[in-house]
Amino acid sequence: EKGGFDWFMLKEIDEQPQAVADTLLGRYAADGSLQLDEMRLSDDELRDIDKVIIIACGTAFYAGLVAKYAIEHWTRVPCEVELASEFRYRDPIVDRSTLVVAISQSGETMDTLMAIRHARTQRANVLAICNTNGSTIPRESDAVIYTHAGPEIAVASTKGFLSQVVACYLLGLYLAQVRGAKFGDEITAIMHELESLPAAIRRVLDDGEQVRELARELVDKRSVLFLGRHAGYPVALEGALKLKELAYIHAEGFAAGELKHGPIALIEDDLPVFVIVPPRGRDQLNEKVISNVQEIRARGARTIVLAEDGDEHVVPYADHLIRLPRVPTLMQPLVATVPLQLFACELADRLGHDVDQPRNLAKSVTVE
Ligand code: M6R
Repeated sequence: EKGGFDWFMLKEIDEQPQAVADTLLGRYAADGSLQLDEMRLSDDELRDIDKVIIIACGTAFYAGLVAKYAIEHWTRVPCEVELASEFRYRDPIVDRSTLVVAISQSGETMDTLMAIRHARTQRANVLAICNTNGSTIPRESDAVIYTHAGPEIAVASTKGFLSQVVACYLLGLYLAQVRGAKFGDEITAIMHELESLPAAIRRVLDDGEQVRELARELVDKRSVLFLGRHAGYPVALEGALKLKELAYIHAEGFAAGELKHGPIALIEDDLPVFVIVPPRGRDQLNEKVISNVQEIRARGARTIVLAEDGDEHVVPYADHLIRLPRVPTLMQPLVATVPLQLFACELADRLGHDVDQPRNLAKSVTVE
């Protein structure tokens, strides 16, 4: 049943190219425009939306953080991302022109369910992004986009995360489309970028041995940091969460730009620090993050750098270099997360932990 893999988690990591392809499947209408079949919200309702609030927990929350960058960029509609467990306790500003997007792999997470119930009492439109057909959260929502990633058995979410990001991107593109933007060509171009991801993810998987080797080398570490910026920031948070839940070691993700505002004080000799370097572009983020790599290395950190093919500037400051396929900035989370999943899985396995059933955790958290 594990398809020749030692753990369900490894199997599910390996299924990610297919999961992404399946999330994208069947999203075109005959005229080549985007369609979201299972959407029960009308285009008119979507045109009236003036704010998106994404609510989710854990890894699904990080998928929401990634999605914010894309949704705001493509639609110019403000998008907030909030932990479901915090949402209803702070008297959130929600009304009928708010689109509340609940992301949940299982569709049964109680915190998320309570949050959407609250949103509906405020007459918000609620859309679920969910992997489990017929589960409670989509049943209690006005609309749903199913991720179609197939069952996720391991407690740690992997293909769930990637497919959630893709589904959120579809939502962002669809919102841009119904809101009329002279955006048609651009939507098609972005769809093509998404459709090229399964092959890119497969390549990252094929290079997995290097990451497994690294996990063996770092097996006695008690603390690991992760740095990212822009859409790479939630990837850093996700990398840290995977390590906490599977390997039971201290791990933290930071926004690279925050380093100088505090976290740099943590850097000491041989502390492993993963850094997700943004693709080179006009925004200078690549250069800025590379200078962070330089700074932490000068203070003794062991730098584990994830950087796109052809990025040579970072090479002198990388103790370990993990190459990523060249993809646009907003697509990078979908390739950069994969080595971090493999790393956490291998490290936990080396430490003798049950990778699929980490201690104290349940696959779906059905209590508040
Ligand atoms: O089923 P959900 O997507 O609602 O679950 C949300 C979180 O409980 C879940 O992502 C959790 O953080 C995972 N164990 C992370 O790997």
